[in-house]
Amino acid sequence: VTDSEIKIDGKIYKKDQWTNVSPTTLSRVNRKLHLHPQHPISIIRQLIESHFHDFKTFHDISPIVTTQQNFDDLLIAKDHVTRNRSDNYYLNESTMLRAHTSAHQLQGMRSGASKFLISGDVFRRDEIDASHYPVFHQMEGVVYFDHDPVKTAEQVNADIQMGRLKEAENVKVVDDTIIKPENPMQDRHTPETLEAVASHLKYSINSMVRKLFADEPDLEVRWIDAYFPFTSPSWEVEIKYKGEWLEVLGCGVVRQELMDQAGLHDKIGHAFGLGLERLAMVLFGIPDIRLFWSQDERFIQQFTPGQIQKFQPFSKFPPCIKDISFWLPNKSWEENDFCELVRDVAGDLVENVELIDDFTHPKSDKRSLCYRILYRSMDR
Ligand code: PHE
Repeated sequence: VTDSEIKIDGKIYKKDQWTNVSPTTLSRVNRKLHLHPQHPISIIRQLIESHFHDFKTFHDISPIVTTQQNFDDLLIAKDHVTRNRSDNYYLNESTMLRAHTSAHQLQGMRSGASKFLISGDVFRRDEIDASHYPVFHQMEGVVYFDHDPVKTAEQVNADIQMGRLKEAENVKVVDDTIIKPENPMQDRHTPETLEAVASHLKYSINSMVRKLFADEPDLEVRWIDAYFPFTSPSWEVEIKYKGEWLEVLGCGVVRQELMDQAGLHDKIGHAFGLGLERLAMVLFGIPDIRLFWSQDERFIQQFTPGQIQKFQPFSKFPPCIKDISFWLPNKSWEENDFCELVRDVAGDLVENVELIDDFTHPKSDKRSLCYRILYRSMDR
């Protein structure tokens, strides 16, 4: 391998002006936390898979995808901001580490299964705090039905009847979303079928959340309107944790253009993408996302396959705070690039990076920023 190439799993990728993956990030590509039976991410994955017991499951699709899979297939416009270099890890102009498991929706739909789940690691350049990490795990679910109001309603009702759970009193779900012009149904759908498919989606998610959180103290869950280029209408689900609303999933009714690409012209489907770390943090009481990557035995030994147990912290170390300030160069400034540099230098010792001062010199017009970096080890 030369300086102008990257080698992963025996394959060589030519670097170009888009390349921005760091060695630290590449080193995480093969950890596959979601496949270690004792790991909380894997425990959650399995609990979700057993809830959706009649779904076909995929959990070992390579995270190296084409930009076609990650964006174009999902109708994400060529100039859409989510393609920015400062938000993604590119191997080169046409190859990247997937930013979401939606990159495999089409593949799943072409597999012939009308209900399936895809779990895997996803990669995003992001800010640094206790709930953001450049690698996390998602689970994608897709279900589709015949586009026929009578048949669809039958299939939907059969599923709802079969899985009917006693309402878990501790989970309060608020959903006041309605179909409206800003979050519209698609022209090719009829209101009856859309209604049936949307209720299947909402039922599937709410019953899963109720099951996962059955033994938790009171939990508030809410549905809000959202936008994704590949679904319409679209929603997000948030869970209240420590007084803050955490986004745990995005979902919606699959855009018919995507169904067409998979050869499913006469079907109508819904899709959802769940963030596993957020759910695991709430369920296992894990205070910091870095812990999932800890190689310390005191982390992994606490967990048992198939069980949700509260995490017992083993590091009582105080944080160490350092401020750093610098003049900005004359070119554009991306905070995510700074965070990536911090991660490369300090690794998992950084817990938080926060902008605390932004100063522009009145005469020279030069701008300076001051960041507060909080260091704390999770295990030593
Ligand atoms: N892929 C979206 C995300 O990562 C979530 C999503 C999945 C939305 C499926 C709609 C349908 O934010």
